[in-house]
Amino acid sequence: MDITPVIELLRTRIGLNAESIGVQVLEKAVRDCMAECGSASIEEYIQTLMCFPNEVDRLVESVVIPETYFFRDKELFNGFKEYLRQFWLDRKTSAPLRVLSVPCSTGEEPYSIAMLLFDMNIGRDRFHIDAVDISVQALDAAMRGVYTAYSFRGTDPSLCNRYFSKSAEGYVIKKEVSSAVNFQQGNILTWDFASMRAGYDVIFCRNLLIYFDNAAKKKAVSVLFRLLNGDGVLFVGHAETARLSADGFSRLAFPRAFAHRIGADPEHRRVVPCPSGHKEKLPAARAQGDAHRARVVSKKTEPDALPRRSGEAHGQDAAKSRTNAAERIAEAYRLVGAGDIDNALRICEDLVAHDSYSAQAYYILGQVVDSTGDGYLAEEYLKKAVYLDPGFHDALAYLSNLCERLGDAKNAARFGERAGRVMKRASGKQGR
Ligand SMILES: C[S@@+](CC[C@H](N)C(=O)[O-])C[C@H]1O[C@@H](n2cnc3c(N)ncnc32)[C@H](O)[C@@H]1O
Repeated sequence: MDITPVIELLRTRIGLNAESIGVQVLEKAVRDCMAECGSASIEEYIQTLMCFPNEVDRLVESVVIPETYFFRDKELFNGFKEYLRQFWLDRKTSAPLRVLSVPCSTGEEPYSIAMLLFDMNIGRDRFHIDAVDISVQALDAAMRGVYTAYSFRGTDPSLCNRYFSKSAEGYVIKKEVSSAVNFQQGNILTWDFASMRAGYDVIFCRNLLIYFDNAAKKKAVSVLFRLLNGDGVLFVGHAETARLSADGFSRLAFPRAFAHRIGADPEHRRVVPCPSGHKEKLPAARAQGDAHRARVVSKKTEPDALPRRSGEAHGQDAAKSRTNAAERIAEAYRLVGAGDIDNALRICEDLVAHDSYSAQAYYILGQVVDSTGDGYLAEEYLKKAVYLDPGFHDALAYLSNLCERLGDAKNAARFGERAGRVMKRASGKQGR
């Protein structure tokens, strides 16, 4: 069955990079949707998709990954608290804190934000949380606000008493928290999203960009850039920082939380004034962000002005950069051994930002993240490592062990078998 047109439709509609979830997963989703709408062949199904928008919605619902849980990535929420303490609590303005959670999936992320604010004694009238997702099913669940214990992995159990009541169906979020979040359906890649009211102080955009192809990532990052206040902060997932530095954001030094600001780097603040006349129309902070972007653009064009390098020089550069990468990976391992997880993470993040095809970098990133207790995110990195290098024995073996720890026996066996086959092939070659 050739599902190429469906892959293309999903790429343009929701930015999905088919490889991020696997073509087999997509094929299964297509088969299920075909069965539900009664299409006898892929050709008939494609016709159906073209004629019935609700079938496209059904397809989207079946491929999105709603995985989320309360206080997913504790370090990041510590970073959020730190941002509030350092940059927001002392503000002279009475304007409420505006927060955007996109994508919010089934609500655990925006509700965690609200609970954290209540815990910091920041009253309901001092903040406003918008939460957006493309999935209507996920939003329905978010608005229902009934959760099973699975949504509380790794969360302080006292939360359940303070902000939830127990019912036969599960843990029901209290009205005080649910009424603090405004849910909306939206696609970050479409015009209506891009035209949303800007001026957010904090944006959480986690575990979305990893599923996007490059064009969609670029578009989404530019939308986030527009929506964020010039002195606001953007939190992304561990694997999602790569695009940001190229697109006008710089990293804030919160340990292990991937927080970014628009041109927060003072170096960037100094240069390239906004075109005259334009500046007055913009709020000061926004003008500063745009100035930074202008500089980034001009910086990118510089290499064209340089004489072209010879092929030999290129080869030498490539070899040098491979040696550098190997040295940095060794350094990251050394840091993990010494317990310096922050710096190990930083090196891996940097490696992935400069070479998104480095299976080794994803492998060690997976191990480092695993050591911080986020097994699910570690799994995503390790899967990337074995996707980039299907014969990577150590990553396959690690992944098998990790899946077992996460209670996923099927994948534990699958990756274990693959590791065994790689080992067998390698010993066969040696025996020859
Ligand atoms: C893995 S969840 C992330 C939830 C939460 N941010 C977290 O990190 O726990 C990914 C969500 O992205 C949503 N999504 C996928 N494509 C989207 C798009 N183009 N615009 C908005 N949401 C999208 C999916 O519906 C899904 O709920």
